[in-house]
Amino acid sequence: MSTHIGAKPGEIAPHVLLPGDPLRARWIAETFLTDPQCYNEVRGMLGYTGTWQGHRVSVQGSGMGQPSMAIYVNELFSEYDVESIVRVGSCGALREDVKVRDVILASGACTDSSMNRIRFHGLDYAPVADFGLLRAAYDAAAARADLTTHTGLIFSGDSFYPARPELLEPMVAHGVLAIEMEASALYTLAAKHQRRALAICTVSDHIVTGEETSAAEREQTFGAMVEIALTSLTA
Ligand code: HPA
Repeated sequence: MSTHIGAKPGEIAPHVLLPGDPLRARWIAETFLTDPQCYNEVRGMLGYTGTWQGHRVSVQGSGMGQPSMAIYVNELFSEYDVESIVRVGSCGALREDVKVRDVILASGACTDSSMNRIRFHGLDYAPVADFGLLRAAYDAAAARADLTTHTGLIFSGDSFYPARPELLEPMVAHGVLAIEMEASALYTLAAKHQRRALAICTVSDHIVTGEETSAAEREQTFGAMVEIALTSLTA
């Protein structure tokens, strides 16, 4: 058992799906995994281990934002020998050619987080996805006719309600596709621990047009994204 995860040694698989919402973790476990066993209920941050197409896989809630996510990812890497983590989350689109329900494979993640700045003494580290996971996810996504996928940069912001949203304009002008709140620190922690990580996000809302998805649409696209994530994790 680690500080925030109640699993015994060996109860967490080497490959982990990481949704922000713990109830999504339960939904993923019950929908996609065979014989899922709950290994964590500490703080309601549910975690399960089961099998998918014969591969042992875990799914762990991370909470919202980089500080919460980093607690779970640090403990998964340092106390449970986890090898690879694929975040499955939602994001807000920042460009008109990115539509709600599209899926984004985050090749890299910019950030305004002080976690990055403090770790690198004010220098600008560029957190990037593991290429093998990204390539496998890209191939899995390209094989699906039901989805539009974009591969590129996202922005991991510390504020869902930013005081100065205009600060994002240069990011968009330099190719950033969407905003979420976790990928950058996830990629940095994977690099620090010499493990693998990828973030895949469905577009749940559009920052430019104001369009949103319905709950039913979110569930359908979320399911497709989980299948892509499981395929890349176990490739
Ligand atoms: N901002 C940050 N994170 C998000 C958003 C957003 O608009 N939408 C989904 N996750």
